[in-house]
Amino acid sequence: MHADVVLGLQHGDEAKGKVTHYLCKYKSYTHVLRFNGGCNAGHTIYHEGKKFVTHHIPAGVFFGIKSIIGPGCVVNVAQFFKELQELKDGGLDVEGKVFIAKNTHVITDAHLHEEEGETKIGTTKRGNGPAYRDKYNRHGILAKQVPALKDYLIDIYEEFHNDRDVKILCEGAQGFGLDVDWGDYPYVTSSHCTVAGALLNGIPPTWVRDVWGVAKIYETYVGAKSFEPEEESEFFTRVREIGAEYGATTGRPRQCNWLNIDELQKAIAVNGVSRLVINKMDVLREIGSWGLIKDGTKMDFDSEKEIMSYLEEELPVGEIHFSDNPYRL
Ligand code: IMP
Ligand code: MG
Repeated sequence: MHADVVLGLQHGDEAKGKVTHYLCKYKSYTHVLRFNGGCNAGHTIYHEGKKFVTHHIPAGVFFGIKSIIGPGCVVNVAQFFKELQELKDGGLDVEGKVFIAKNTHVITDAHLHEEEGETKIGTTKRGNGPAYRDKYNRHGILAKQVPALKDYLIDIYEEFHNDRDVKILCEGAQGFGLDVDWGDYPYVTSSHCTVAGALLNGIPPTWVRDVWGVAKIYETYVGAKSFEPEEESEFFTRVREIGAEYGATTGRPRQCNWLNIDELQKAIAVNGVSRLVINKMDVLREIGSWGLIKDGTKMDFDSEKEIMSYLEEELPVGEIHFSDNPYRL
């Protein structure tokens, strides 16, 4: 029995989908488990030359691996069925592969309406906050109460703790900087994006093998607070264009900034990250400018090689993979 975890170390959109897709392809998992968030997340995945955007359904489905939406998530039933249909239309065999934990909470129309005019946080307006609030306020509706979901329900305890040799990939949504406890409150999401969030879904800590942390060589954020340095707006406009930094869920332009190494170190430490992926190296390579923020001050680097050696030295992880974004259109 073991579990690997993939999670975001910044503010979401670190290309976690790419990493989970890769791991599903090369490691032999019996299950993929989405452990937090709802349809606020948007994973863009290129599978056999086709583009898919999933919000709820974990990436295991692309490889016929049992894919479960865990009780740490909230689920929009209409969106769930829409996504299932899109996957089928894309030629995937999803039959008997996609499940929702019976105790997962549901996002209702009332939750969606409630968020329509939301501007304080700049949420994705997908009803996540209200759904989690009702969960904790004990007003929530569980998946098992929704007749349409009957064929998709699963009992996590029976599934994972029945003496079967399960190998689970836990797939996180959003990232450390949006975590309800560790992020910049109140500019956070309503769920637990940390490794602890994965454990809340019936994963014993002793099962955890690798914690894959995913970051980008720069940062992005979508929401109401100001994040992008105004004085460098020309530079970050280029980053946004080259990196295609527009929300997969809402289409909103993402604010960009330099990588903050102190925040990254914190995210690595709190999550016990053992393997780190730093994505989108190609974006800064194309511009030919390398830098990061340390102790609130910008540090410049002459080359990609120089920043890579610096990160390898500074970051306390066993393994760093620097990666390009193969998904550029
Ligand atoms: P909520 O999760 O819709 O309540 O939004 C709270 C904050 O998290 C807002 O700043 C959103 O833009 C941000 N957020 C939520 N999900 C994602 C995501 O998947 N990627 C990036 N930002 C997200
Ligand atoms: Mg995203």
